[in-house]
Amino acid sequence: MSRIAYVNGRYVPHARAQVHIEDRGYQFADGVYEVVLVYRGRLVDEDPHLDRLDRSLGELRIRRPMTRPALKSVLREVVRRNAIDTGLVYMQVTRGVTRRDHPFPAKPVRPALVVTAKRVVPASEAKAEEGVRVITIPDIRWARCDIKTVGLLPNVLGKQQARETGAFEAWQVDAAGNVTEGTSTNAWIITRDGELVTRQASAAILNGVTRLSLLNLARAEGLRYVERPFSVDEAKSAREAFISSATSFVTPVTQIDDRVIGNGRAGTLSLKLRRLYFDYMANPGVAEAGARA
Ligand code: PDD
Repeated sequence: MSRIAYVNGRYVPHARAQVHIEDRGYQFADGVYEVVLVYRGRLVDEDPHLDRLDRSLGELRIRRPMTRPALKSVLREVVRRNAIDTGLVYMQVTRGVTRRDHPFPAKPVRPALVVTAKRVVPASEAKAEEGVRVITIPDIRWARCDIKTVGLLPNVLGKQQARETGAFEAWQVDAAGNVTEGTSTNAWIITRDGELVTRQASAAILNGVTRLSLLNLARAEGLRYVERPFSVDEAKSAREAFISSATSFVTPVTQIDDRVIGNGRAGTLSLKLRRLYFDYMANPGVAEAGARA
C-alpha cells in the first residue's frame, strides 16, 4: 500500500508530497514539530504532545494552523490512510511561505502544516536487554532547547557521530560537565543507591513527553526519583542508565563511551520502567496526561 501524507489541506501520495521552496521551514528552520507514537491504533500521550506543540508555536509566535479537534482528526486520518497499527505520526508546522527575508512576514501568512506517518516495530524485550552504547559530546546547541524546532543540525551531527562510532545515541554535555540530553532522547541514570535521576526541565533540554509519563509512572510505583543535573562521571559510575523518547520508549544504556554500566546488561529498574511504560501504552490510566509533572 502506498503512503499518504497530509500537506496544507490535502491528502497526497507521499512520493509526490511537496512544499514550496520559499517555505520558511526550508530556508530558516522557522518551524516546529512533534512525533507521536501510535501503539495498537492509539496515539500515545496525544494531548501532552499537542500541548507542547502549542507551547513551541507560542514561543515562536507562529499561528496555530487549525484547532486542536481539527488537527486531531487530520492525525487520525493520516494514521488510518496509512493503515498504521504501531508506528509514528510526524507533524510539522512552519511559519509559512513568503519572500525570503529574516523578519516575520509583515502581512500574516498561513502557517504550513505537514503530517506523515510510518510503521515501526518496537525492539523486542530480548533486544532491549542487550542495551545500547552512548557516546558523550559537547552540547553545541542554542539556549532554547525547550522549543521543539526543526532546527536540528547539532542533533543530526551528534547522532551521526554516534553512528560512526557504532553507538546508538550521543549524550550532549554542557560547559559544567553535566549531561543535558541525547540528540533525540532524554537521559536517565539510576544511582548506586537506587535513585532514579533525570535532568529537570529547563531551556537546556526538551521536556520529553515520555519523560513526563515515566516520572508519573515512577511516582505511582513509589520509586525514589529526583530531577537534577548529573555529570558524565556520575553517569559512568551509575548502576543503570537509559534513554527515553516517543521513538525509543525506554531503551537501556549499557555503555557510556568506553565505560560499561553495571554488568553490561540492561538494569533491573530500567527494564521494569520499560515494562511499566508498555503497560501504560496499552492501557493508559494511572499516568495519563504526562504534562502534569
Ligand atoms: N525526539 N530530547 C530531544 C532533543 C528530542 O528530540 C526528543 C524527541 C526527546 C524526547 O521527547 P519525547 O519523549 O517527547 O519523544 C528529548 C523525537 C522523537 C524526534 O526528534 O524524532
